[in-house]
Amino acid sequence: MENLESYLIKNICCIGAGYVGGPTMAVIADKCPTIEVNVVDIDHKRIKSWNEEDLSRLPVFEPGLDNLIKKNRNKNLFFTTKIEDSIKKADMVFISVNTPTKKNGVGAGLASDLCWVESCARQVAEFAQSHTIVVEKSTLPVRTAEAIESILNANLNADKEQDKSFSVLSNPEFLAEGSAINDLINPDRVLIGGRDIKAMNALKSIYLSWVDQNKILYSSLWSSELSKLVSNAFLAQRISSINSISALCEKTDADIREVSMAIGRDKRIGANFLNVSPGFGGSCFKKDILNLVYLANYYGLPEVSQYWEQVVKINDWQKKRISNLIIKKLFGTISGKKIAVLGFAFKANTNDTRESAAISICQDFLIEGAKVAIHDPKVDPKQISLHLNQSQKDLEELNSMQGGWQFFENIYESISDSDAILILTEWDQYKDIDWFKVSNIMRSPSWVFDTRSIVNETSIKKTNLNYWNIGSIQ
Ligand code: UDX
Ligand code: UDX
Repeated sequence: MENLESYLIKNICCIGAGYVGGPTMAVIADKCPTIEVNVVDIDHKRIKSWNEEDLSRLPVFEPGLDNLIKKNRNKNLFFTTKIEDSIKKADMVFISVNTPTKKNGVGAGLASDLCWVESCARQVAEFAQSHTIVVEKSTLPVRTAEAIESILNANLNADKEQDKSFSVLSNPEFLAEGSAINDLINPDRVLIGGRDIKAMNALKSIYLSWVDQNKILYSSLWSSELSKLVSNAFLAQRISSINSISALCEKTDADIREVSMAIGRDKRIGANFLNVSPGFGGSCFKKDILNLVYLANYYGLPEVSQYWEQVVKINDWQKKRISNLIIKKLFGTISGKKIAVLGFAFKANTNDTRESAAISICQDFLIEGAKVAIHDPKVDPKQISLHLNQSQKDLEELNSMQGGWQFFENIYESISDSDAILILTEWDQYKDIDWFKVSNIMRSPSWVFDTRSIVNETSIKKTNLNYWNIGSIQ
């Protein structure tokens, strides 16, 4: 018979007010008005932005997020830097901090850096008061829960506090940025990994406020942790697969859109996630695959490791082949030429630039001495400068030509006098560009490179612009 025992959850603390923690807690607070939700972060500036009166200044842009914040903030949803107090009050603590790829030491460049997850576990161990359920929300290497449990329990023994105890659960977040609120409200599935059925039921009861129970899956801790890595690896693999075929289409008489449509009609393959692109970006895909690569090697499976590493290699190659072909089309040099880059976010509907294809492509242009004019409707130019200033320095060291980058708020100003336009993000604004107007303000011969295949081909072909559409015969 099903075990229905559960803990009662009245207070939640989420450590990490980022792209995952912020939206996830906004939805939980909205759907569970009787639960108090405190979102904490060590970054005081970030917490201040979450508390901004002006909702357009929230640190994360997500369609629908501003409304949820407006409705629930300071009612049962609080953004605070009071980590100790929030943990003390909580029956359940979500760990939603970042787990970037390690920069130094063992596993550098591949393994996830767990220093922040560990520091969260230590804080929970120190401040928790009674039974506390610790939920891993961050994507973590398989068996991380073991480390979290050891930290929590080691502290228990040292303190000899018998009223304090912990249950650890894995509850990976599958939301995609840009559609985070919709993904949270209508998830394909909610995965809960754990051993303590009472704790698993407690987390399930939160989701049951809005998610159908058939969508809530239970598994072991290790299956849950690994499923998240594998899910991202499979998704990224689809993109590398389609992008590799885009290059083959350009050499043959095939068209990648037709190929995507034809293969996607096979139910076993499915039609989603087959859009050609300049390469996948975002904080998760590369990091999670590299982590999988590291884990497979660690467990003595080099063939498995090499298999998955190829997904990242094809992605890097796709970005490089785009910058190389643009240079080739512009007569082998872009030194001193103006290139308008439309879109810096790693995908549409987000202000996030992490691992965006735009970063390495713009860096390539800067090294070649081009003038790069960047437009993006949501990305803060300060964010772009964090990515490109380094290459600005490389540029000074590598050559003395007059290149550099500039941010434009107006699409047509970024395009004016340019030799080429490169569309990197599939923002709706770029679908409605007036190509006649553009052809009059560019320097001839002028090129439009469309890496998302979003331009209306019929209308651009009526102009004198040279048009390169990714994955079709040139
Ligand atoms: C992150 C991870 O990248 C992802 O793997 C995981 O699944 C969820 O968490 P994201 O929310 O996009 O995703 O990260 P980010 O926007 O960087 O937010 C993390 C926040 O944690 C930051 O605001 C950071 O200041 C905060 N943090 C980090 C803490 O509050 N305490 C710490 O000890 C470390
Ligand atoms: C991804 C996963 O989708 C999500 O489940 C997980 O929780 C976090 O990682 P995210 O990175 O936010 O989400 O966005 P996603 O929509 O998956 O896009 C990732 C990258 O792949 C983007 O750069 C996007 O442009 C690219 N992409 C996506 C393609 O190139 N083609 C596609 O068909 C789909």
